[in-house]
Amino acid sequence: MTFENTTPNQAVPKAVLFDAYGTLFDVYSVSMLAEQLFPSQGQNISVIWRDKQIEYTRLINTSTTAGGATDAPFYKPFWDVTRDALRYACAKVKVALDAEKEERLMNQYRALSAFPENKAVLQSLKAHGVPTGILSNGDMGMLGVAIRSAGLDELLDHVLSADSVGCYKTHPAVYALGPKALNLPVSDILFVSSNGWDALAATWYGFQTLWLNRQGLPFETLGAQPHHIANNLNDVKTLFSAP
Ligand code: LAC
Repeated sequence: MTFENTTPNQAVPKAVLFDAYGTLFDVYSVSMLAEQLFPSQGQNISVIWRDKQIEYTRLINTSTTAGGATDAPFYKPFWDVTRDALRYACAKVKVALDAEKEERLMNQYRALSAFPENKAVLQSLKAHGVPTGILSNGDMGMLGVAIRSAGLDELLDHVLSADSVGCYKTHPAVYALGPKALNLPVSDILFVSSNGWDALAATWYGFQTLWLNRQGLPFETLGAQPHHIANNLNDVKTLFSAP
């Protein structure tokens, strides 16, 4: 599959925001350590871990612990949700996650492998004066370590975390952080995500969107389409040159 422009004649975007996990950082890279710790279950654990992590963000977004007494929503940071999801994944495949193994896997998650093309793409955007940033469910602590480990800290102008508004994507309060920080209309910002649900909700919200289909999946079938589809971050660069 190559680069696809599903909505030609879009205005050239003025800035770009990236989702973090799955888009810049490879969430399945933890499967190697998981395989070492739990032979024949590494892949399985990494997939269940990721799916449960996202499922928990949605459960949290739509729940309260106050019994209806207040409408204060329930919230816990993405790092804690990630640990909870790991515990679930190990319980589901029936392996014993002791404290030491849990710490090793969580440390690995903290410094996930970055996709190889990231750095050159961000350098090129920077050279063209395009403002760049991350808009992620991750809390600042975990994003900071991941960004520094990947050597991307000098290349990102903004790191926007859902934690600052106490809820998760696809809540509009999280997407609103983008136009607010960049001081641009949402339609002037390109949002790039490898998560189909995130690319869809960002399209609904009003961003120009690029879905990075790293896994060769069908796009969500709820109706709207992302403005662009690519399988490699390199294609982001082409959108910043005027037609
Ligand atoms: C993020 C998750 C959704 O970085 O991948 O926001």
